[in-house]
Amino acid sequence: MDLLEVELTDSEFRNLSSLIHERCGINIQEHKKSLIKGRLAKRLKVLGLKKFKEYYEYILKPANSEELVQMIDAVSTNVTHFFREQAHFDFLRDYIIPDMIKRSKEGQAGKLRVWCAASSSGEEPYSLAMTFLEHFNGIQGEDFMILGSDISTRVLKAAQDGVYTEDKLGGVSKSQRLKYFENGSQGQSKVKDSVKKYLVFKRINLMDNEFPFRNPLDVIFCRNVMIYFDKSTQQTLVQKFHNHLKPGGYLFLGHSEGLTGVKHKFSYVQPSVYRKDAS
Ligand SMILES: C[S@@+](CC[C@H](N)C(=O)[O-])C[C@H]1O[C@@H](n2cnc3c(N)ncnc32)[C@H](O)[C@@H]1O
Repeated sequence: MDLLEVELTDSEFRNLSSLIHERCGINIQEHKKSLIKGRLAKRLKVLGLKKFKEYYEYILKPANSEELVQMIDAVSTNVTHFFREQAHFDFLRDYIIPDMIKRSKEGQAGKLRVWCAASSSGEEPYSLAMTFLEHFNGIQGEDFMILGSDISTRVLKAAQDGVYTEDKLGGVSKSQRLKYFENGSQGQSKVKDSVKKYLVFKRINLMDNEFPFRNPLDVIFCRNVMIYFDKSTQQTLVQKFHNHLKPGGYLFLGHSEGLTGVKHKFSYVQPSVYRKDAS
């Protein structure tokens, strides 16, 4: 079957885009039709299906729920890199870490709990871990944990492996490479276990009604994913983030993702950084 020959009718496109919106919040606009067609046609080929209608029916069957992950992978972007949007890591270094050190000196040491809510292939949560390790300066009794989550099991696996080719390491300094990476196979670099021990990875769909946290969080990074959601989905999500943060906790969004037009209870700190008011 020639991939270009498969037709995606308007009603098939509407069905598939509604399903994607319902299951993962991603809004696919009409002008993306040919892109979606190209990407999903590859899935039809893998599954031996001839029409998008058959694909839609296939994916609706509970027994084929794994295909949903494949579909989301095919239509969404996982682009990320180490220390993307550096200003956020500077903010951690200049405000959040000093505050933690101060609390530690006052005898209020506690584990800093960070959720990296669309962690893709791991560059973002590992950048967070390196930032904490660099700036805690060996403070005794201080600790942190980072949960990296994503809807895509494919990128989560890459994050767990923590193995990166040379071209992915652009944002990492030479000294960070020496401290936090070791040589992997085929010239790749592997995140050391001494860094990995601070991270846990888990599949979480941001559309889920409940998130699996019993204790409140200090920091949530949710960057460069809300841009694909409509305003009402963003509003529901931001409210859930607010519920899961400690008073005084921080929410970081992508630099092009403000909360303009979204009703929320956060205080604005600086572009794309928000704080839950201390009670
Ligand atoms: C563009 S990447 C952003 C990665 C990283 N946060 C950054 O800023 O570099 C977007 C990620 O969001 C994930 N994603 C999309 N929809 C999601 C959902 N409903 N729940 C959780 N993750 C989702 C994708 O799988 C992808 O890995």
